[in-house]
Amino acid sequence: MQLTGASMCLVWMGLLCWVSQGVDASEGFPSPLKRCKLEDETCLVAQAQTFFKAFKNGIPERHVGSLEPIELDRIRIESGGHSDSLQFKLLISDAKLHNLSTTAIVKGLKGFTKDLTKPLKLTLLMENPEVEVHAKYDVDGKLLILPIVSKGDLTIRLKDVQVKTRITAEPVKRSDGHTYLNVTDCKALSKIKRGQFDLSNLFSDNKELRDSTLKVLNQEWDTLALDVQPRVNDACCKAFKSILQGLWANIPYDEFFEAE
Ligand SMILES: *[C@@H]1O[C@H](CO)[C@@H](O)[C@H](O)[C@H]1NC(C)=O
Ligand SMILES: *[C@@H]1O[C@H](CO)[C@@H](O)[C@H](O)[C@H]1NC(C)=O
Repeated sequence: MQLTGASMCLVWMGLLCWVSQGVDASEGFPSPLKRCKLEDETCLVAQAQTFFKAFKNGIPERHVGSLEPIELDRIRIESGGHSDSLQFKLLISDAKLHNLSTTAIVKGLKGFTKDLTKPLKLTLLMENPEVEVHAKYDVDGKLLILPIVSKGDLTIRLKDVQVKTRITAEPVKRSDGHTYLNVTDCKALSKIKRGQFDLSNLFSDNKELRDSTLKVLNQEWDTLALDVQPRVNDACCKAFKSILQGLWANIPYDEFFEAE
């Protein structure tokens, strides 16, 4: 069969139609998220809250990763001399952050503007009564004069966590004439009331030595947190950035908001 100019054209139109239907299906907000007015922070906060609750398992068709748990990259921490009695090199791998989406209370979401000539600076405030990091660890260090060289399972329990996340999103105009947000940066600051470490396999599970070491470690939580917290924040932010990027990838910014 030979394709004439006209039938070729029909084939193209069919294809275009099919493609744009495919795109339509993935555009817009995934239900149950709703559009808000740009200035309506209460509504924006409610949507962020809904997002955490409704998309625990991510949105696979939009390449939005799981929120429960959130998979974190490897975290490498070298103690920065905040304490003479505690020095270590710690590698955390296979890390997963649990309970964030289920316990998150969103307190604020600001920074959306109509001005698309410069990057948007968004701020998300959130409180979490309880989150946990579950991971594998490999540590080489010393506590007082006691060498600690071990690997095993690590749990970090964090209570009453306040997080301020700053997200930078760059407006990018695509060939369809619409502007989309490209999440280019994420920084998180956190305040944690109480943190607790648990390490399996410490001292080949010599229980007494293990328990007393963990006790001292946890008494030193504030010092430990100076080294650990920023790295955990960075890892969470990286995961969060990719989650947001997936969510916003195919929603034109002009469809984010209800008309004023
Ligand atoms: C946190 O997550 C763990 C692992 O999924 C679960 O066993 C635990 O019950 C959760 N805790 C809270 C407070 O939701
Ligand atoms: C989106 O941002 C990343 C940096 O985070 C950059 O590498 C990429 O080129 C940007 N994409 C577009 C379409 O501007």
